[in-house]
Amino acid sequence: MSRADLRIMFSPGRVQLVQEETMDQAPKVLVTGATGLLGRAVCREFQNNSWAVLGIGFRRARSGILRCDLTDEEAVRGLLQDYKPDVIIHCAAERRPDVVERHTEAAVNLNVHTTSTLAKEAAACGAFFLYISTDYVFDGRNPPYGEDDTPNPLNVYGRSKLEGERETLRHCPGAVVLRVPVLFGEVETVSESAVTCLWLRVQEATEGSTLDHCQQRFPTDTRDVAAVCRKLSERARQDPSIRGIFHFSAKEQMTKYEMAIAIAQAFNLPSNHLIPLTEQPAASTLRPLNSQLNCSRLELLNLSVEPRPFTSAIVDSLWPFTPDKRWRQTVFH
Ligand SMILES: NC(=O)c1ccc[n+]([C@@H]2O[C@H](COP(=O)([O-])OP(=O)(O)OC[C@H]3O[C@@H](n4cnc5c(N)ncnc54)[C@H](OP(=O)(O)O)[C@@H]3O)[C@@H](O)[C@H]2O)c1
Repeated sequence: MSRADLRIMFSPGRVQLVQEETMDQAPKVLVTGATGLLGRAVCREFQNNSWAVLGIGFRRARSGILRCDLTDEEAVRGLLQDYKPDVIIHCAAERRPDVVERHTEAAVNLNVHTTSTLAKEAAACGAFFLYISTDYVFDGRNPPYGEDDTPNPLNVYGRSKLEGERETLRHCPGAVVLRVPVLFGEVETVSESAVTCLWLRVQEATEGSTLDHCQQRFPTDTRDVAAVCRKLSERARQDPSIRGIFHFSAKEQMTKYEMAIAIAQAFNLPSNHLIPLTEQPAASTLRPLNSQLNCSRLELLNLSVEPRPFTSAIVDSLWPFTPDKRWRQTVFH
């Protein structure tokens, strides 16, 4: 990536929708993973609140999103030195546990080394750094988990994210680590999120579609996480005591089976083909049984948001995939 490219991308584009006249004064946020599930929502949340936004993507980067391979240290340094962000929200990661097990070196390079580079550069340029992490840093045996509870990841993905947390706080002591559980939101395809992909199982309507009914999850809307990221950023710019680890999660506890039933009910679809699986399958990648996050630190500081109810939020995500679109909401599109 050349600096000339960067200047081109700074000209008006999809990620910079703030008023022209306020651009000079607007605080600047750089969002990594801007083409991903969470990064898209984060870009939108900051744009809607008059921030100047530069979104970074890689393979899916299109107009308005800057293409930058974050594993290229020199490119990252040049980018930060040129853009001089006030805030960096680091969403880019390899977050599919099975892929991380199969391609560990590449995943660790992205999840750990890239995080380390960004944290060092954030500290050097005085930007507030927010690293998105996961409830998979916990083993799920003794929930709920507070920010100070000892992590014990069960899989390589969880270990790589925990390493990313440690690199973040080691190189940038003023940074925030925000741990979140399984996410859903506006998706390009239903398979993009572990929650929206249940749509396929609901629609299959074949006899005996089994779904996990052991692992307890707290599916959380990316719009709520994005709002928390903005609130944390705005407060941290005023108050340097906002640093360290925070948890954010929706409150509704559901297994995949229960999510699928809720989806079927929300769209008035049959659900009697869905069968709860009450024994843990011999999965290749271990996952925590219940890594519920205690979110009281955010709540006490009035930095949380009221999570959207699952049923209405999942309708917002899935209506574009219904045949007649009669569930159309006005939220995303
Ligand atoms: N999704 C969940 O259920 C979940 C749950 C808990 C925590 N999290 C955490 O939340 C964060 C966001 O996850 P997500 O679900 O939004 O992930 P995602 O949808 O898989 O998006 C990953 C992003 O990383 C970018 N990326 C990958 N390799 C890159 C590279 N070499 N250089 C630059 N960018 C690169 C991708 O860009 P391209 O696609 O353009 O290549 C994409 O924008 C992650 O830290 C994840 O660990 C996610």
